[in-house]
Amino acid sequence: MKKELRKAVIAGNWKMNNTPSQTTDLINEMKPLVADADCEVVLCVPYIDIPAAVEAAKGSNIKIGAENVHFKASGAYTGEVSTDMLKEAGVEYVVIGHSERRTYFGETDQTVNLRSLAALNAGLKAIICVGETLEQRELGYTETLLKFQTKMALTNVKPEQLKNVIIAYEPVWAIGTGVTATADQADEGNGFVREAIAEAYGAELAETVTVQYGGSMNAKNADELVAKVNVDGGLIGGASLKAQDFSVIVKAASK
Ligand code: PGA
Repeated sequence: MKKELRKAVIAGNWKMNNTPSQTTDLINEMKPLVADADCEVVLCVPYIDIPAAVEAAKGSNIKIGAENVHFKASGAYTGEVSTDMLKEAGVEYVVIGHSERRTYFGETDQTVNLRSLAALNAGLKAIICVGETLEQRELGYTETLLKFQTKMALTNVKPEQLKNVIIAYEPVWAIGTGVTATADQADEGNGFVREAIAEAYGAELAETVTVQYGGSMNAKNADELVAKVNVDGGLIGGASLKAQDFSVIVKAASK
């Protein structure tokens, strides 16, 4: 395992929080706190907040991401947003297949794959989320499910596009619940993801892919989680809404 081959990425996922003016204020507060980070710092924000986020982050080390993207280039898809729109707005990252999208908005492994391909073909960095429910874990399906979701998401993704792929292992039972996976569970889940990538692309390439952990990662538990060999940073929900907490997580990943 070669952790040094991969850059840790700490990405905030704001979900449906913050108006444009709140976005400006929060990023202005965060900028000095994360300025000396030795990891990639990303904030994925609601579409409507993107212009304010890009403007506020200008000249800093904070990169801006979206929380979803449509797979068609344009057309009659009311309410959707394309890769071109995101890119022109200054977006570099996009979260795809978050469990909330899968649960509430009918996202499937197939649409996750289509969105991932669209994002990667457009030159965006895709943060692709996978994760098991508590029921699936208790039935013993965690490894099978994580490998299946990972391989499905990466179908037709070219080896040279893997440099723009981040997989976020997010156990559904740990998201927004305050119940974090133990560091060993996170490491094991991330390891299954990396094995799936190795099975599809070979071990050497798999060692270079950033695999994050997500699910109630916070200022207190980040140190232990990101120290694990397979955990290359995190996707942070609740704690990314507080500048101080987020910056502590960024510092943990910078060690
Ligand atoms: P949480 O969310 O940190 O609030 O659990 C993580 C996520 O949904 O990405």
